[in-house]
Amino acid sequence: MITLYEMGARDGLQNEPVMVPAAVKAELIDRLAQCGLQHIEAGSFVSPRWIPQMADSEAVFGLIKRQAGVTYSALTPNMQGFERAMAAGADEVAVFAAASEAFSQKNINCSIRESIQRFTQVCEAARDKNIPVRGYVSTVMGCPYQGKVPEADVVMAIEELLALGCYQVSLGDTIGVGTPRQVSQVLKTCLSVASPAQLAMHFHDTYGQALANLLSGLELDITTIDASVAGLGGCPYAKGASGNVATEDVIYMLHGMGMDTGVDLPQLVAVSHWICGQLECQNRSKVAQAMET
Ligand code: HMG
Ligand code: MG
Repeated sequence: MITLYEMGARDGLQNEPVMVPAAVKAELIDRLAQCGLQHIEAGSFVSPRWIPQMADSEAVFGLIKRQAGVTYSALTPNMQGFERAMAAGADEVAVFAAASEAFSQKNINCSIRESIQRFTQVCEAARDKNIPVRGYVSTVMGCPYQGKVPEADVVMAIEELLALGCYQVSLGDTIGVGTPRQVSQVLKTCLSVASPAQLAMHFHDTYGQALANLLSGLELDITTIDASVAGLGGCPYAKGASGNVATEDVIYMLHGMGMDTGVDLPQLVAVSHWICGQLECQNRSKVAQAMET
């Protein structure tokens, strides 16, 4: 069984030029849950000046019709974000670090070391409240500012986040530059400090490599995948980055290989076309395009 983390409502919508009303975001989240997606990143409690698209995450959490068995999570860069997430009723939070110093500065305005200090506070507060914390490491396959990222820096970030108590670290190919053998190599190195269940793959599809790269990880028994409905989004601090690999494309591949996801693909395709209609954008999922009726 593969575990999918649906990123559309957060990683997707944080980088769409159209401002989506909170009610539409909540409807998106509800419809994704109805398709069988059980881990949904529903928003982000970051500075509204940095990411205006996520400024209404409180309202979104308030409007979701919670479905049993679904975890609704949110990004929290610091204690202020954590307090907001708790007040809004998030089930789980995520802290996000980078393997590249330059990216850390651009994305969260502090060094990697400072970010870990902030996350220490968040993780301690989360532990007190029994809230699970997921970690992200960005730029694991390359950085838009510094280029190559040494594997040792990726490993160090994973170790720090696991030591803080993150139950899993999601590895971000933030600008989608990795290729399958490189991904295999980097993931093998990561597996020297983490179990397959402690790692997730968060691949953006900028260069069209994401599905092939996911296969490299599946071969290493990493079975948690982040994906975004319709391939929505990108990263606002990584110029030219396109969205996460489309959830529909991942599911089509997995089902075709006989792997279960628990997600209803035709229903998800319908949601995918609906949200693209709301955004007035082209659907970036090949599978959704092919299955359009
Ligand atoms: P800063 O400006 O250094 O923060 O930003 P500060 O602590 O100096 O505070 C400055 C102002 O921000 C203050 O307001 C704070 O109250 C406010 P003022 O007094 O000036 O009016 N502030 C906040 N407001 C609301 N919620 C908060 C919060 N924190 C401070 N939580 C900060 C530092 C981290 C806040 C900022 O840089 C930020 O919000 N960055 C977020 C960037 C972001 O969301 N990027 C996208 C998500 S990461 C991603 O997409 C990658 C990922 O998908 C993996 C991958 O693909 O690689 C996860
Ligand atoms: Mg991302």
